[in-house]
Amino acid sequence: MIRLDKYLADAGIASRRELKAILKSGAVTVNGVPAADGAAKIDPAKDRVSFRGRPVEGARRVTLMLHKPAGYVTSTEDPRDRTVMELIPEPCRRQGVVPVGRLDKETEGLLLFTNDGELAHRLISPRWEVEKRYYARHEGTAGEADAAAFAAGLTLRDGTVCKPAVLRPLGPGESEITVTEGKYHQVRRMMASRGLTVSYLRRESEGPLSLGGLPLGELRELTEEELELLYNITKSNL
Ligand code: URA
Repeated sequence: MIRLDKYLADAGIASRRELKAILKSGAVTVNGVPAADGAAKIDPAKDRVSFRGRPVEGARRVTLMLHKPAGYVTSTEDPRDRTVMELIPEPCRRQGVVPVGRLDKETEGLLLFTNDGELAHRLISPRWEVEKRYYARHEGTAGEADAAAFAAGLTLRDGTVCKPAVLRPLGPGESEITVTEGKYHQVRRMMASRGLTVSYLRRESEGPLSLGGLPLGELRELTEEELELLYNITKSNL
């Protein structure tokens, strides 16, 4: 819930001070009812706010899940490579969504985008230690000793110490890895430290969110239920 005047100011309608007069004039409605009180709280996800009869867009909180394909860097601009922003339709880009967290250029899978600064901040905080589950194809075959080393907390070749993680061998050259951190090239480096060089990596889930059947390269808005789960778990990690 946010104040109506902040919502309107964020949407670029006018400054907080100018909004006083605008609200008094009856030009703003919430769910069809004129709203004169800038301090009134609204829920941007549910309430319909209009200014001079037109819906106020842009300030709506938008959180999206993309099934990222390989070949795109997770960044808003890049001098050489294609960026994940190229996969976001213009209307969403105009709403100010940015990637949350990072997947390597060659990694596929679940990548979140949001224009909710507070949510983004909470999601990338190291305190948000949610489980991120990956599917990997790799050289060699993982076994019990590898799983035990992951569970104990690996030390990488450069001395980086990783938190305990789960390695589940799926068969020759295939494993599922679950980590709670997001260090640079983490899964690839963890696997390499066991001689299991990764040739393909896909993030299947992040906290309560899963790719499900979302096709490669496509994106969708999170459902109300997913958003609620996300807000709840990030709140408890503050
Ligand atoms: N670990 C990696 O090595 N790469 C990613 O993109 C994500 C996790």
